[in-house]
Amino acid sequence: MILTDEQQAILNGEKGETLAKVMETVVRYGELFGAQKLVPVTSKYNHLVTSFGLKMIGPVYDLMNELIEAGAVSKQQFSLDPRPVDKNVPANFLQNLIFNKIMYAKQDFYEGQLKQLGLMNEDAFTCACYMDEVGNKPQKGEVLSWAESSAVVYANSVLGARCNRNSGIIDIMGSVVGYVPYFGLLTDEGRKATWTVEIKTTKKPEAQLLGSAIGMKVMEAVPYVKGLDKWLGNELDDAACTYLKDFGAATASNGAVGLYHIDGLTPEAKELGEALIAENANVYVIDDAELQRVYDSYPVIWKNPNAKPKLCFMGCPHMTLEQLKTWTDRVESALAAKGNQKVAIPTVFTTAPAVIKEFNKTPYAERLKKTGVIVSYICPLMYMNNPLCGKMPVITSSNKLRTYTTARYYTDDEILDQITGGKK
Ligand code: F3S
Repeated sequence: MILTDEQQAILNGEKGETLAKVMETVVRYGELFGAQKLVPVTSKYNHLVTSFGLKMIGPVYDLMNELIEAGAVSKQQFSLDPRPVDKNVPANFLQNLIFNKIMYAKQDFYEGQLKQLGLMNEDAFTCACYMDEVGNKPQKGEVLSWAESSAVVYANSVLGARCNRNSGIIDIMGSVVGYVPYFGLLTDEGRKATWTVEIKTTKKPEAQLLGSAIGMKVMEAVPYVKGLDKWLGNELDDAACTYLKDFGAATASNGAVGLYHIDGLTPEAKELGEALIAENANVYVIDDAELQRVYDSYPVIWKNPNAKPKLCFMGCPHMTLEQLKTWTDRVESALAAKGNQKVAIPTVFTTAPAVIKEFNKTPYAERLKKTGVIVSYICPLMYMNNPLCGKMPVITSSNKLRTYTTARYYTDDEILDQITGGKK
């Protein structure tokens, strides 16, 4: 890798031993991917994936301490992924014990470190940091040092920013030293699509199911999706962005997509069109039958496949304000149609703390509360990733949660039907 004089000076320790180690980490990481230079991180804020004070990640706390003590703190403030625990989310005595005393016992300590390292504010814990209420929304062309896969794919695809799918900790390293290696999705070449996906469904595809199908097919490649603008329109309005948030998270977790282009809709596709498609790109056609095939292929890993669900999680990635409002209407209407007052399965909608504040200012908050649905800021994945919760029959419309846990995926309509009492 060829470094500038300034970068070389940092590597040589002229700005301290700690910053030299950070630079060495970033350089070595870049060399692994064949990067030949570093480029400046240009976004206003960073976003970190490591939001949880997990007891067993002692080396992370040591590392953070070393950064703090050496004053090797980023010029960027940052948001980060959701907090792992919320007392409003149903949990029994044993689960609470495991969460608070064993798994996430270091949460308060770690949040103290995060404040010293540049946490944006108390509400900045969400994977959907680009939502207006949160305020970490990069501009087109800005270079980022993020790692959260659902946020990276959104920033690249919907906002037109440039970021690789970094791993946790590398995200903070790039931000602290102010540079990231130039390779992959940072380059024009790396942003070209090697897959064309043709949507030929007879109705608007379920975002999380379509994302899953594409992710599993193209894996880490960049897909150029044609025919989706028929269903989403040609403007990135609130509805389209929300759809792409959920779609993207599924592509990134069911595969390893870091960038997609939607013909006639996302910024680079609007600007460059099919010039973004690489020569000899593969083709994947998605019709109703293909979506059904993908849906049917999901394994059910509950001990008893016929168990009654004990919990439902919606909002992975975190829900937008509009989603919360729409779902309030939907839950209310479905309950009324069945003559029911409250949801039949304990149900948690997850969203950003800043969105909860805004939601609570609207009449929808009281209405949703009356249905029995709980609104929380947690990450459902962190709730479920332990042997006790892993045994619970949990349902979700998140394909990311399905992939990483034992939760069972259903479409939005199926979830609505189940939580409001099933078929009458
Ligand atoms: Fe967000 Fe946690 Fe899902 S970080 S995307 S709510 S797994």
